[in-house]
Amino acid sequence: MTTTPRAGALVLFGITGDLARKSLLPALYRLVEQGRLTEPVVGVVRGDWTLDKVRQRAREAISARLPLDEKSFATFCELLRVAVVDYDDAATFAGIAEQTDGLGYLAHYLAIPPSLFTTVAADLAEAGLNERARLVVEKPFGHDLASARELQDALTRSFPEERLRRVDHFLGKDVIEDLLTFRTANTLMSAALTSPHVRGVQVTMAEDFDVADRGSFYDAVGALQDVVQNHLLQTLAFLIMDRPAGDDPVAMLDAKAEVLRTVRAVPPDDYVRGQYAGYLDVPGVKPDSTTETYAALRLYVDDERWSGVPFTIRAGKSMAAKTLEIVIELRPAGDRPANLIRFRLDPKPGVTFDLLAKSAGGDGTDPVAATLDFACLSGDDVRAYMHILEDAVTGDPHRFSRMDIVEECWRIVGDILAPAAPPIVYRPGTWGPQEADRLTLDGRWWPLENAPE
Ligand code: BG6
Repeated sequence: MTTTPRAGALVLFGITGDLARKSLLPALYRLVEQGRLTEPVVGVVRGDWTLDKVRQRAREAISARLPLDEKSFATFCELLRVAVVDYDDAATFAGIAEQTDGLGYLAHYLAIPPSLFTTVAADLAEAGLNERARLVVEKPFGHDLASARELQDALTRSFPEERLRRVDHFLGKDVIEDLLTFRTANTLMSAALTSPHVRGVQVTMAEDFDVADRGSFYDAVGALQDVVQNHLLQTLAFLIMDRPAGDDPVAMLDAKAEVLRTVRAVPPDDYVRGQYAGYLDVPGVKPDSTTETYAALRLYVDDERWSGVPFTIRAGKSMAAKTLEIVIELRPAGDRPANLIRFRLDPKPGVTFDLLAKSAGGDGTDPVAATLDFACLSGDDVRAYMHILEDAVTGDPHRFSRMDIVEECWRIVGDILAPAAPPIVYRPGTWGPQEADRLTLDGRWWPLENAPE
């Protein structure tokens, strides 16, 4: 059940920005090409941008990511409009009203720096553009629990919670949703994944590239806030939550909020931070920065199914490989090696079971891997943003992060947001500081499908 109607236009703030270039414009084009988006897209721009320039920018952005079909691109261009505004002058928002006149319900999508969210929401309200509209905001939503609540208070002055949507593009990834489906639809999985059978869980999001040209954004955030507090805690929720009966999106969000309430806050002793050597030379990074580019932490879940099971999560830039993987270690039978269940979310989505079989010609056992590929699914960000943008237009809330969920995620990392010690320096191209090994069972991170030894 959606709480708001399908929008008659998408109003995109930040259409000339980096996120639009990299992900939003290609995703919008794909939606148009597939006939899933037929509504006008109003790009909100500053004075030096014209419709022609925006179209040119769109052409470059799309063809950098996807094969561009001229006919579909022409359809896309017909849907594009621009409204020129000055964020400091609410009167200029009349330009948006002009471009959207007669189009009915609006979806305002803010792909702009979070420092502008409240100004823009207030300007939209002043121009009367908040009454029959929803507001979609990109991440990050605050930098801790208090600032998230402040932001919420400011935004809800113009847009009530049921018309607010917070983006976490991991929620648009089919593979993340499939984690929940695969786990709950198969008795084999749901029977095995409970604390009597599970010894421990490891989640790894490794990126083999550095912060590149995002120095000033990244330096104010760091790995914990950039990907752990949002993407990886959301992923964890899909791993541990119950699936409600039926497909009511609100029930889905309720179930997720409920399970996150049972996750204990991470104590400072269970957190290790790293910074890759060379990070301080990145343009935009403060010369004495103590921002982490690697974060590893351990947490526990206080519900019946997962009680006592350690979950370790690590994420880092400039690591040995690009991979997103969840490894579950089952309790071994006797002194045999443990069975592992590996959810490979990226780059080749699927599940691998590390099992034991009778060894050929002997009485012992040999390890065998049973691999299943989710051929039709992909963790690609353009596909993820297609879901997010489509839901922004339809109003379906289930792929967005509701405020109570955001609050729980900030609570879980609340005690480790301001660490006293500087991060440990690690060599680019490695798995990060070895000090983090103490957070894992037996002091080791389990093997990763795509990882070099
Ligand atoms: C973004 C982070 O939210 O997610 C980036 O800001 C990170 O630092 C990215 O690289 C990862 O997402 P994806 O979809 O490219 O794996």
